[in-house]
This record gives sequence, C-alpha cells and structure tokens, in this order.
Amino acid sequence: MTARKAQEVGNKAIGQFFAKMDKEGLALTYADVRLHTDHSDVLPGSANLASRFSRRIPLRAPIVSAAMDTVTESRMAIALAAAGGLGIIHRNMTPQEQAKEVTRVKLHLNGLIEKPICVDAADSIETVLTMRAEKGYSFHSFPVLESGKLVGILTRNDFQFSKDAKEPLRKAMTPLKELITAPEGTSITAAYEKMRGHKKKLLPLLNRRGEVVGLYVFSDLKRILSGQSSHNVDKDGHLLVAAAVGVGDGALVRAALLAERGCDVFVVDTAHGDSENVFATVKLLKRRYPHIDVVAGNVSRGESAKRLAKAGVDGVLVGQGPGSICTTRIIAGIGCPQVTAVYECVKALRGSGVPVCADGGIENSGDIVVALALGAESVILGRLLAGTEEAPGRTRIIQGVPMKEYRGMGSLAAMQESAESRKRYRQADVSTKKLVPEGVESIVPLVGSAHDVLEQQTGGIQSGFGYVGASTLAELRAKAKIFRISPSGLAESHPHGVAIIKDPPNYRSGKLS
Ligand code: XMP
Repeated sequence: MTARKAQEVGNKAIGQFFAKMDKEGLALTYADVRLHTDHSDVLPGSANLASRFSRRIPLRAPIVSAAMDTVTESRMAIALAAAGGLGIIHRNMTPQEQAKEVTRVKLHLNGLIEKPICVDAADSIETVLTMRAEKGYSFHSFPVLESGKLVGILTRNDFQFSKDAKEPLRKAMTPLKELITAPEGTSITAAYEKMRGHKKKLLPLLNRRGEVVGLYVFSDLKRILSGQSSHNVDKDGHLLVAAAVGVGDGALVRAALLAERGCDVFVVDTAHGDSENVFATVKLLKRRYPHIDVVAGNVSRGESAKRLAKAGVDGVLVGQGPGSICTTRIIAGIGCPQVTAVYECVKALRGSGVPVCADGGIENSGDIVVALALGAESVILGRLLAGTEEAPGRTRIIQGVPMKEYRGMGSLAAMQESAESRKRYRQADVSTKKLVPEGVESIVPLVGSAHDVLEQQTGGIQSGFGYVGASTLAELRAKAKIFRISPSGLAESHPHGVAIIKDPPNYRSGKLS
C-alpha cells in the first residue's frame, strides 16, 4: 500500500490485527507487540523523522516532553526544541511564572555561542594552535581580547596567512575596525540580516562595557533559518514551545499571558479529556486565539478522540494511565492499554487531519517506533527525560547514587502543593486531607544531558525505521505489520541469562547505579 493511501484508509494488516484483538475483547500495550522486519535499503540515520505535534506545529523529531513539574520548564523545552522536538511547560506555577518560562524559550538565543573561547592579544598563533590541539577544538575563530575588551578576531584566514607563528595576535588578527559587532540580546534573524548585509561570517555580541557576551557564526544561522538544522523553530528562527493551560477561567488567564509571550501551542491537559469543560475551553481558546494551535486530552477511546476533534482541537493526547508514575487505572479501574488506545484514536481521527500524540508508557525507543507505526505522530516522554540535568526535579543522593525526583502530577505531594494538579485530577475543591492520588512520587537515576538522551531515542527510532524499511513516517505507517508476542517472547527480547555489569546508554536494567 502506498504511504498516501495508508494515511487515508489506514494500514490494512494493522486494521485486521486489531479487529481480531477486538473480537477477543483484548487490549494491548507496548510490551505485548513488536513490528515485522522487512526488506530494507534504509540505513539507520538516513530516515526523515519529520512529523507534527498538532495541525500547524511541526516536529523535526517526533518527541515531546511531558507537562510535568519534574520534567518540563524552560531548560527542558530548549533542549527538546534544539533536538527537533517540543517541550510542554507545566502549569504547577503561577500564570506569570509560566509566561516567564515561555519567554525564556522564545528569547533563547538560538544559534548563539554563549561563551565563545577568547584569546589574549599578547598570545601568539603558535600558543593558540597548541591550545586548539590540546582541547580538541575543531573551529578556527577566536575573539581576541585586551584587558577583557574585544580588539579583534582571529579567523581561519589569519591562521593561514600568518608569516610568523610567534608574532603576537594583535598583529596577526583581523582588527576590530574591520569587524562588525552587535549589542547583547541581538536576535538570530537580526544577526543574520546584519551579517548578510556586510558579508561577514562572524558577529560578536558585546555588552555595554565592550565585553564579548556571544558569537554568531553565519553558516550556523543559515542552517537554522533554512530549516536544515535539527532545531525546531518558528518563522523567525525562535524555538517552538508549548504550555499546559488546563481548563476553565484559569486556562483563559494563562492563555492571555502565554499568547503575549509568543507561546506556540496551548495544551488543555486534563486526566479526562472527554468532558464538557474541556470542549468549552477548547472552543473559547480557538475563538480567542485562532493563530495558536490547541491540543487537548487525555483520552483513550476513539469516540472520545472524535468528540475532541468536533470541539475543534488541533491535536489529541492519547493515554489514560500508561505513564510510569500513574495509578489512575489501578485506583479508578478504567483505561485502555496504550497500544490499543493509540490505534483506536488514530482510526477514529482518520480523515480529520487531527494528529494523535501517544502520551505515557514509553519505556524504550522501540515503543516509540511502535506508536508511530500505529499512526501516532508524536510521543510524550516523562520518565525517560526526568533523570536528565535539564529536568527541574530535585537531585538526591540515594545509597551514594545521584537520583532525581520524578512524581506524578496526580501524586499526593503534587496535589498538596499545587491547586493546578488538584484541578487536573478534578479534585479542586477537595480538602488536602481527603485527596485521592492517582500517581506516585519516585526517583530515577541521574542520566546526564537531555541532548544525549534524545540522541539515543532518535537513534533508536532511526534503527526501527531501518529494520522496517521505511524512510519517512508515512512509509512506516504504510509498511508496518505487527505481531502479538507471548510473555516468553518478551523475556527473550530483553537481555536474559546474563548478569549485566553495565547498562548501555539506551537501556536500563533496573539497577540503581
Ligand atoms: P511516562 O511513562 O513517560 O508518562 O513517565 C508520562 C505521562 O504520564 C501522565 N501523568 C500521569 N498520569 N497520574 C496519571 O495517571 C499521574 O499522577 C500522572 N502524572 C503524569 C502524563 O500524561 C505524562 O505525560
């Protein structure tokens, strides 16, 4: 089947698979299924992972970070957008604080080298070359300082044309009078225009005291603005960002501030998206802010997804209770295992143009490939990002191992601390003593930078595309065929019969360290 046909009518083999499961009254989740491999000439790393979060919000990598107070504030959202994804700023903070977080992402000087390596005018070419080799720097442009102030730049040409490697840089460099500079805070687009106008490849940013506070490199800006870099940016080159708004009057107050700060997507994030107050909020937001996409959830049935689409959403969050810290299904006895939920919602939304985001329960990158094959256009990650440096959760040392706190938005602590969390779980008016939690408080190992985690996740997705023989998301959806696997099939899929001595960077065996 062609990719286009699969988009319109769905993948027949997958349809038949779920029809059979439905007949048996069986709902499945990620650990229950795997995809068929197929003949493939697609090498890992060569697939195009472009997708979208909502009708008008593109993704260069189909990964979104959870609107949770231990996952996404501005630092995480910046990391996500820099990797081609999107962060949803949580709402367990005042609307003003949340607006500030959005501003931090929108004003993040994308493409700016914030701390360029500077050299001293009294140094020589030889010293710089030695330092360059020792530190393993691959670049050749160094701002040159005298008494802390910019006096010139050492460029690749200066290295090449210097006659005497021992002469001081003040003689070898391109002097300040031949350079262009710009004030601190100059945006990527303003910088690009200035560099293009003057035909200059470098633009140092200076503060009022003449100190270097950043450096733009023309080739970097050109790549970002032409869409050739991994960064997920708006038309002005600013990073894209989403924010959770909840429902009712509170959502409207937040939305007003967030819209002012350039927020790109509102997320009406609730535990039960198939309800009148969600529909009403979506309609109001769409009317007031027609230029901003509205994504809403969470739901886990096709009929619910359809009702949200009818209310006018630009994207649907699917997942009730699959999350690592969720207890909703256990406490309330409801909810559909995630693979079936995603498939049913995708099927129900076919032809509407409204994309599904599979929210929660992703344990490994292979689960992302499964979600995308079933028709989800993005996934939300909570736990997998909660252990990174960019996550706002507190770091604690447990048995000598650095761990980060990761808690459900419906956990007792989150609901006691935040009225927003109580609202999300429809317990706004419940006394804090009588709260009924729907999530747990946990710790996860500190795992380094979000950049590294995202690189592993997208690497795993690339690998999945390669095995299926798909070079785009549409091809994956069209080609995918699915197995149901037995518990022993699952056990066989994980490492077994060995004592793991060291976890690889993309797999956790459950050991503390
Ligand atoms: P993962 O599996 O990535 O899931 O950790 C993150 C998603 O879990 C949802 N979430 C909750 N669900 N009770 C729930 O039932 C909670 O307390 C809770 N907190 C977060 C949310 O959809 C998130 O994106």
